[in-house]
Amino acid sequence: MTSNRSGTKPAMSKDRLIFALDVSNAAEARRLVADLRNEVGAFKIGLQLFTSEGASFVREIVDGGSRVFLDVKFHDIPNTVASAAVEAARLGVWMFNIHASGGEKMMSLAVEKVREVCSKEGIEPPKLIAVTVLTSTDKKTLLESGIALDPEELVVKYALAAKRCGLDGVVASPLEAGAIRNAIDDPHYLVVTPGVRPDFATIDDQKRVTTPRQAIRNGSDFIVLGRPIRTADDPVKAARQIVEEMS
Ligand code: C5P
Repeated sequence: MTSNRSGTKPAMSKDRLIFALDVSNAAEARRLVADLRNEVGAFKIGLQLFTSEGASFVREIVDGGSRVFLDVKFHDIPNTVASAAVEAARLGVWMFNIHASGGEKMMSLAVEKVREVCSKEGIEPPKLIAVTVLTSTDKKTLLESGIALDPEELVVKYALAAKRCGLDGVVASPLEAGAIRNAIDDPHYLVVTPGVRPDFATIDDQKRVTTPRQAIRNGSDFIVLGRPIRTADDPVKAARQIVEEMS
């Protein structure tokens, strides 16, 4: 959440790469951070590592000088989400997210409270982005929740709502990045995309995937990637290859 209410574009290809620290313990995560800190733009700490190692581990990585995307997807009543968002800002994370499906009141209050506390406490404002539709959700999943829209229509609807509420951008599939760009005429609005596989990697359980280059062409600012780097024989080499592909 920058002061002009829009995100800051990545300066170099390396900055566009967010590496997912999807591991269960701090020792393993520390090793990956040490190996990859000069190769990637940020580390994503998600539900698994956050639940096992907690906020003190997030602070450790931040204090070590790396950018952290805290991917714990807050979704609750507006007051609870705003309070949690304030604590995320106090942790010093570079980016964190909340669910757009929590509604506009929830999103706006989080923006307002984070802005207030950052200004009062002299904290660099984090980028606050909205989760649109999870990549595991398809039309059938939406229908189960009584939503008749197609996933892409809902992604655009959520992206517009998040923009109205002053968020810095969204998380979405790279296949939907183009629709978001068409709907929102603001080049500073950030689009962060998982669901990316470089040419050299297997697709694991990812279903609708694109390459890093295609994701950037579609309008992504940041790509989130885990297994193709983590499970590579040489993770540093894999990260460099991906950055090269994006250049
Ligand atoms: O598959 P990979 O290891 O690259 O996943 C990196 C991140 O992308 C995961 O932490 C998860 O948040 C996200 N992801 C996703 N949809 C998938 C698989 C992963 O959003 N199908």
